Amino acid sequence: MTAAAINLYLVGFMGTGKSTVGRQLAKLMDFQFLDSDHEIERVAGKPVSAIFAEQGEPGFRKLEREFVEGGHPEQGCVVACGGGLVVPAGMLELLRSRGIVICLHAPIEAILQRILHTTHRPLMQGDDPSKRLRELYAQREELYRRTGTMILTDNRTLREIAAHALRVYRQEAADFKK
Ligand code: S3P
Repeated sequence: MTAAAINLYLVGFMGTGKSTVGRQLAKLMDFQFLDSDHEIERVAGKPVSAIFAEQGEPGFRKLEREFVEGGHPEQGCVVACGGGLVVPAGMLELLRSRGIVICLHAPIEAILQRILHTTHRPLMQGDDPSKRLRELYAQREELYRRTGTMILTDNRTLREIAAHALRVYRQEAADFKK
């Protein structure tokens, strides 16, 4: 495979801008943009919230693994990964074997501002979504730090973030060994 076509996986907590940044990067790189949640919804024929309701979180994580293992092209893609996709054991290694992994990061306060009013995320349902999000963030922070190069998205323009991610991608893709 040529270094030029290695997939790029954007990981990070909900609300860090993976889809917005991913779409922009795909344009700049002339790659296909995929969002793992949307691909899973398309294949399952139902929204993520229904998958969580019917199969629970483990059922959804299984579909995420299937998407990574065989549900997307092996090259030429920028993939915005659902926030929990890298949480189950082995998923980060699997992503790393398939491409460059970049983590988008934002402080929890910025994330809360961005997503507290949204309604489509099942993990934010319940009496106190803000508390739930803070707990999840605390649980996962260490893991996200280990995923790959981290790019801060808070108080930066989309253009700056995308340019930074593209520099990181190009450096890492040049060294990437399959
Ligand atoms: C999840 C994040 C969501 C989606 C699902 C679970 C998580 O994706 O996959 O609701 O566990 O963090 P986004 O990060 O795109 O919101």
